[in-house]
Amino acid sequence: MDSYENLLLQLQNGILTITINREDKLNALNRDTVKEIKLAIQQVYDDPAIKAVVITGAGSKAFVAGADIAEISELSDVNARSFAEQGQEVFTMIERCNKPVIAAVNGFALGGGCELAMACHMRVASNNARFGQPEVNLGLIPGYGGTQRLTQLIGKSKAMELLMTGEMITAQEAHDFGLVNYVTTPPELYPRCVDLLEKIMTKAPLAVGLVIDCVNAVYTKDENGYQTEANSFARCCSSEDFLEGTSAFLEKRKPAFTGR
Ligand code: COA
Repeated sequence: MDSYENLLLQLQNGILTITINREDKLNALNRDTVKEIKLAIQQVYDDPAIKAVVITGAGSKAFVAGADIAEISELSDVNARSFAEQGQEVFTMIERCNKPVIAAVNGFALGGGCELAMACHMRVASNNARFGQPEVNLGLIPGYGGTQRLTQLIGKSKAMELLMTGEMITAQEAHDFGLVNYVTTPPELYPRCVDLLEKIMTKAPLAVGLVIDCVNAVYTKDENGYQTEANSFARCCSSEDFLEGTSAFLEKRKPAFTGR
């Protein structure tokens, strides 16, 4: 694995855990950290030994408390657009990754932290987590996809409210709004993510990747999601795993999927 300054990476039983590791700054995302996340996600795309991903934050207080405000304060209209576009590109890589990615939200997920969690395919939160898009307090708006993904995940009315008030919500409220899949105690957080991923890892990897594509297609304006689904369905039917899955069912045994 490459060496990282702001991330910890650990691969165990096919699950890569990416920990944002700037605990003294509540894991705020500076430019270098965003670049490193891009490298790490590229590794996920490229390395067949990585089957699934958990993204979390170091320490017990924060997942990620936002983009680094010290860096943001230096932005001008000249470089701000590329700042936003570069972050958006990395978060879209996460969203489009064909291996499942879960955010283990262990504390504050604010601004870019909430946006990072929303780019993941699912979110599990510990009961001390807090979510919010507080950018309006800084004279800003989200720049890493937050206005789009929050609206997709919780609907227009609540997204408008959270984005305009900048208020934080609890993990339980985030669950009630559909932002979070499960709420756990802090010690149960990581094991719950691993349980979910291990369940998914027993399924056909190609089919799982195509599910991700098809669900993402709902939110991609230039794509006909039904067509994407039909094409993906056909792709599954020409795979070895389809043969294996259907044969195993008929032979009353567990399938042994290979991803082909
Ligand atoms: N960018 C840069 N540094 C940050 C940060 C951010 N987004 N969030 C926290 N930090 C730093 C603080 O400056 C502080 O550093 P210092 O010890 O060198 O002064 C350290 O992390 C601890 O934060 P602190 O504010 O002292 O903790 P707290 O418990 O009092 O408050 C928060 C926690 C999350 C409520 C508060 O840190 C906060 O509001 N952060 C900014 C959230 C935000 O607006 N995010 C969106 C950015 S676009």
